[in-house]
Amino acid sequence: MAPTYIVMLGPPGAGKGTQAKKLAQKLDLVHVSTGDLFRENLKNETELGQLAQQYMNEGELVPDDVTIRMVEERLSRPDCEEGAVLDGFPRTPAQAKALDDLLKKFGSSVKVVPYIKVADEALVERLSGRWMSPSGRVYHEKYNPPTVKWIDDIDGSQLYQREDDKPATVRHRIEVYNEQTAPLIEYYRDKDLLVEIDGTQSIEEVTEDIMKAVEEA
Ligand code: AP5
Repeated sequence: MAPTYIVMLGPPGAGKGTQAKKLAQKLDLVHVSTGDLFRENLKNETELGQLAQQYMNEGELVPDDVTIRMVEERLSRPDCEEGAVLDGFPRTPAQAKALDDLLKKFGSSVKVVPYIKVADEALVERLSGRWMSPSGRVYHEKYNPPTVKWIDDIDGSQLYQREDDKPATVRHRIEVYNEQTAPLIEYYRDKDLLVEIDGTQSIEEVTEDIMKAVEEA
């Protein structure tokens, strides 16, 4: 069977990461997040991490060539043989084209694109209240709180806030999304792959709607 690739689309803070993790678990696929890959490189102090840091802290996109190379390498690893849930990639028309070309080489294509819609005003609140665990679990002080404040439920580690979740940087990330990533909505709608999901519902309701979209694709 051809591998399954799902592209999560939506503005910063829409819930792509939260939902991609759940979906990957339910479908037994790998969760590939370009943001997480850059942050991992940053933590390991690689050259790629250092390059990405300046763009990320300012809320700008990392250049296409670097990002595309990183994703090609990641999707070529054996654990992605069955496919992947892509979160944060593609983010520009050039990345979308590169993904199509790569998946063609794998004898596959994008199966469905859940587009999580949330109005701009709600995104700043979501991101300024987001708490992250070092292992990548995502909490929210109000909407998805850990049992003990600032402590990860699973491994007890200290939660932290992302550098790029400061309100001014979040506003800039939303602008960058509207300029550079929003064109992908039409790109995937034209290919009949886009399914609009109401991202203002509860986390569980959003998961249900996305699962339905995947099953019907
Ligand atoms: P990245 O890490 O991908 O950030 P992003 O796309 O801005 O998305 P976020 O992780 O901020 O939000 P999300 O949609 O995953 O929301 P989440 O589930 O956490 O990218 C960071 C940077 O890396 C970029 O700015 C860029 O510099 C670089 N980069 C990454 N990919 C790139 C690419 N392809 N090309 C170039 N550069 C790239 O949820 C947010 C909060 O809301 C959480 O607290 C969560 O608990 C809460 N929440 C989630 N769902 C709900 C709900 N239904 N109701 C209430 N609260 C909810």
